[in-house]
Amino acid sequence: MNVSDTIKTSQAMADAVTGSPKAILLDKIATCRAKVAIIGLGYVGLPLAVCVAKIGYAVFGIDLNQERVSQINLGISYINDVANDELLPLVENDKIRAYTDFAKIAEADVVIICVPTPLTKNRDPDTSYIQKTVTEIAKYLRPGQLITLESTTYPGTTEEIMLTVLEKTGLKVGEDFFLAHSPERVDPGNQRYTTHNTNKVVGGLTPACNEVAAAFYRKSILDIITVSSPSCAEMVKVFENTFRAVNIALVNELALLCDKMGLNVWEVLDAAATKPFGMMSFYPGPGVGGHCIPIDPFYLTWKAREYNFHTRFIELAGEINSFMPQFVREKIMRALGRRGKPLYGSNILMLGMAYKRDLSDWRESPGVHLLEILLADGEDVHFCDPYVGAVSIKERTPDEMTVASEPLTKEILEAADCVVVITDHSDFDYDFIVTHSPVVVDTRNACRAVLEQHQRDKIVLL
Ligand SMILES: NC(=O)c1ccc[n+]([C@@H]2O[C@H](COP(=O)([O-])OP(=O)(O)OC[C@H]3O[C@@H](n4cnc5c(N)ncnc54)[C@H](O)[C@@H]3O)[C@@H](O)[C@H]2O)c1
Repeated sequence: MNVSDTIKTSQAMADAVTGSPKAILLDKIATCRAKVAIIGLGYVGLPLAVCVAKIGYAVFGIDLNQERVSQINLGISYINDVANDELLPLVENDKIRAYTDFAKIAEADVVIICVPTPLTKNRDPDTSYIQKTVTEIAKYLRPGQLITLESTTYPGTTEEIMLTVLEKTGLKVGEDFFLAHSPERVDPGNQRYTTHNTNKVVGGLTPACNEVAAAFYRKSILDIITVSSPSCAEMVKVFENTFRAVNIALVNELALLCDKMGLNVWEVLDAAATKPFGMMSFYPGPGVGGHCIPIDPFYLTWKAREYNFHTRFIELAGEINSFMPQFVREKIMRALGRRGKPLYGSNILMLGMAYKRDLSDWRESPGVHLLEILLADGEDVHFCDPYVGAVSIKERTPDEMTVASEPLTKEILEAADCVVVITDHSDFDYDFIVTHSPVVVDTRNACRAVLEQHQRDKIVLL
């Protein structure tokens, strides 16, 4: 044991004797007697609730959405990554219970925030969900609580928004209560990396905050990496998402150039991927979607302005990625033109509306943007997505409208003038699709296994 470990051990013993808030909380965490409140039970909050409850903590889920709360209390999951037979036993054994009432925070030892962080209409950060949540937490804050923010946000949020409100209670961070940012890294649909085996970054306000937060997360997550501050942890997360946004934009730009040069971008990328070092594969597509990649980098852009700094890579990546639905429209127009048909009035069938394969999430989906563009053009456009029941369209229409998914049949394919693959769901039978379609614009190279030449002749790649 080195000198620093000896000092830490002596401090822990002293804390235990005095029964400091930190010592009491660490003991509850170590023995799984800590009660955990998770605020916001969506794609991030619900899998986390299951992960934490599985190791023995009692979890209170808090969400404003009454329907979600009722479903959880019946053991019914609305998130792809959480199976009912995983959730139900935890509900039946009183390990997870959901509420709409924030008063449950008073009983919790650990409070985790997983609320949305969207952009406003003017594409500035909308931190109102975090603000409302921390105002509720402040009402019930008491010594011996750990509060962690998992929502993705700009560097500085935990300190500037959360700490300011929580310290108004008169309680002191690092002594009475503990505050940290620990960004969620969930990858919806990923079977290999779950909440449990995806390592997690923790940045506490003080060394004591880091110690308590790391102790808590270490119980349920395999590897914890502590950093020196919440701002560092916040920057780690926005950087991770910016890294993806920029690299996807780079291959999208390559796709635009390959189109002009008559090259097959997929062949180029497959060959480049054979390099055993210094290469990482990203693929082009109809644009980016979901709650992270199209949004989070702009949290950083907004914050950078405070420092008179212009985040050029982020802006450029946003510009290229958001142009992609327009490019797909152009591809459709050209594919129709080759068959002597105009775009206007054509019957266009989109396959997939979710932003990602095998998911039901269509938030910010490029498919929705393309649907809006085509509807505004006056096209007769439909979509089939086995995961998405319906989507609502707000942009480019005078009133919000709902477009429902249709079943994928031979008849609907044959009735279309052009079929467009937007999401490469594994449930789709691409042989069947190409066989019954007049022409297929494939934005994901999903039809790569369709090999017969007369079928390939119908496929137009991005
Ligand atoms: N979805 C992802 O893949 C992903 C991955 C990593 C990080 N994140 C981040 O995690 C955060 C949550 O994302 P999500 O995808 O889980 O969102 P979500 O929309 O799926 O879930 C958020 C939940 O919070 C609830 N809610 C909203 N306001 C609330 C309030 N004031 N009090 C209580 N509940 C409230 C909503 O009803 C909803 O159920 C965001 O910051 C997001 O950027 C998301």
